[in-house]
Amino acid sequence: DGLHSLMVATGKVYFGTATDTNNFDDEAYQTIATNRKEFGMFTPENSQKWMSTEPFQGNFSFAQADRVAQRARSNRQLLRCHTLTWHSQLPPFVQNTTWNPAALTALLTAHLTTVMRHYAGRCYAWDVVNEALAENGTMRSDPPSVFLSILGPSYIPLSFTIAAAADPSAKLYYNDFNLETIPAKADGAVGIVKQIRAAGARIDGVGFQAHMNVGQTPKREELAGTLRRFAALGVDVAITELDIAHGKVPVAPGGVEEVQQARDYAAVVGACLDVEACVGITVWQFTDRYSWVPSTFPGKGQACMFAEDYRPKLAYDAVVGLLKET
Ligand code: G3I
Repeated sequence: DGLHSLMVATGKVYFGTATDTNNFDDEAYQTIATNRKEFGMFTPENSQKWMSTEPFQGNFSFAQADRVAQRARSNRQLLRCHTLTWHSQLPPFVQNTTWNPAALTALLTAHLTTVMRHYAGRCYAWDVVNEALAENGTMRSDPPSVFLSILGPSYIPLSFTIAAAADPSAKLYYNDFNLETIPAKADGAVGIVKQIRAAGARIDGVGFQAHMNVGQTPKREELAGTLRRFAALGVDVAITELDIAHGKVPVAPGGVEEVQQARDYAAVVGACLDVEACVGITVWQFTDRYSWVPSTFPGKGQACMFAEDYRPKLAYDAVVGLLKET
């Protein structure tokens, strides 16, 4: 048994991980990543972002992301595709603030259509719009978004309209962080679902990134309650980028900090299990060896379920234990 096989046994669709081609040559890593009992889904960590897929206008490059998609396919794993309209990891030409609205609309249409058609039929879901909200639930303008500043908030329904036409088979998600912990931001995401529908466009799901901190993770019932707010709107929900970082590393293997981290992981997984509309969980890398956390937040880390040396941590045991008893 493993994370994915146990997750599926509870009626969910997948337990997955972010991964990318920079992990391909690590055999110890691949032994775990490609074990379909553990992971039934891959999300490319970086290679489907605009900077990678269209580094120069009209010049598309899919080689890297294709390798991830191919690996998922040959392992019979799902692919969760990430991400289309996002203010970050954009090539310089997109960030150019001299776009007029018509030209930027054409650019967005060309990008989303080309990338989504390339992967059409292969993405279980797409994160169509990523991180559009500020922490207070209004539109994020820091860092500035070229899409917001030139098109206004209508870039969100516009993106979903383009996406629905480009790949009718992919589930279309709005994806963001801190929806788990900041009610005002969750309110903002509810507003986005309504805004997309009011414009006559399709949205199928809301992704909770769930980049969290040990000891500051919401309780299972609390998070389940937040997920249910979205389920009540008739959209799926998913935990899309789970990791739970220690505030000060290193922490000792098996020590009290790891015990707390295990409780926190179990609370998140438990919340998904409690809500029928929650389709699955993706961890944002499964090993501390490749976690994004320490390079972005120096001093923080050890956020994953497996240690740098691939030892499964108490979090792994706790999640497997929880899934077994469900
Ligand atoms: O590919 C270049 C490489 O050529 C270069 O030598 C190296 C030197 O810095 O940089 C490499 O690019 C890095 C890229 O990851 C691939 O490793 C970028 O600097 C680095 O900024 C980038 O970080 C990624 C980050 O998104 C960028 O915003 C992380 O790996 C990735 O985990 C992270 O993922 C995001 C999600 O997409 C959205 N939600 C938040 C999450 C965490 O920040």
